[in-house]
Amino acid sequence: MPWRGVIEQYGEFINLPKNSPVITLLEGGTPLIPLPVLGRMLGKNVTLVAKFEGLNPTGSFKDRGMTVAISEAAGRKARSVICASTGNTAASAAAYASRAGIPCIVLIPQGKVAMGKLAGALAYGAKVLQIQGSFDDALTMVVQASEKLSIVLVNSLNPFRLEGQKTAAFEVCDALGKSPDWLCLPVGNAGNITSYWMGFKQYHQIKQTGLPKILGVQAEGAAPLVVGHPVEPETVATAIRIGKPARGEQALEAAQESGGRIIAVSDDCILEMQHSLAAEGLWVEPASAAGLAGLASEVREKRLSLDGQTIVTVCTGHGLKDPDIITRRAAPIPLLAPVLSDLEKALRE
Ligand code: F0G
Repeated sequence: MPWRGVIEQYGEFINLPKNSPVITLLEGGTPLIPLPVLGRMLGKNVTLVAKFEGLNPTGSFKDRGMTVAISEAAGRKARSVICASTGNTAASAAAYASRAGIPCIVLIPQGKVAMGKLAGALAYGAKVLQIQGSFDDALTMVVQASEKLSIVLVNSLNPFRLEGQKTAAFEVCDALGKSPDWLCLPVGNAGNITSYWMGFKQYHQIKQTGLPKILGVQAEGAAPLVVGHPVEPETVATAIRIGKPARGEQALEAAQESGGRIIAVSDDCILEMQHSLAAEGLWVEPASAAGLAGLASEVREKRLSLDGQTIVTVCTGHGLKDPDIITRRAAPIPLLAPVLSDLEKALRE
């Protein structure tokens, strides 16, 4: 049977009111892509695979949660939806709201949203507003606005977002036949790590698939869950430039309960891992490399031995979301006259 999107595929495990229409772009069903070269760097006989969530319809994992949140909103005849976003939630909300015929408002931190995400939100027809502040300020504002103006909030504070996002854990278990030993992923507002843990626990209860240890990874300049208090966030990984995660407590609980932890890595480590993933053919946005960057640093510092283990790294968003980070840092591209001798000269250099 062809892939039907996460609600049809996993409906029996998802809490969504029965009268809701299914608003879907056939999200989910993303592949686990083997990473043999990076796997060898992590230890002996390590099986390392990337859950490539950049292959969702709007280019990030947010589509899994958005199909459920927007379906629920449509079911209760919402007149508009609103979210704060570092970019991916905005693009996803805009797409699914359009599909449902519901107006969408997004608040983004000025100057800190990657081009592919901003363009997406505009292309799908959202009302985009930028604020002079961080994601955290924007989230505070949309929470207040949603209460005062009865607009449906579609940030991951909305429990239906988690209902959808947990399906990624189901897919991982279905593909591997059981849970991996470790799952590593980036942590921003902490909805995704919370969803994965919910999903693994639910599937284990029903299908005895086992439970992974979870490593959540923040960027050093935006690591409130590591330093233990809210921070003024700054990182090149703009997707996770968040100083006060809405589901921070649940994220810490998930990591601890699983036997894993939440750590921080430097922007340099994140960009280096983005490069290493691309060297194996996988171009992800910077935040999406953070999970594996964190795991690699734990191995390097001998805090972790992974020999013989199966590891899933969640690559949350596509590299096309943030092309500037690549082009800005690249060497100037040689410009040739349209003659063979110039090409020959360039190839000798
Ligand atoms: N990776 C990417 C590419 C993201 O866009 C986000 C979050 C995360 C990881 C972290 O997930 O927030 O559930 O811990 N992006 C949100 C947004 C904040 O607005 O697009 P999280």
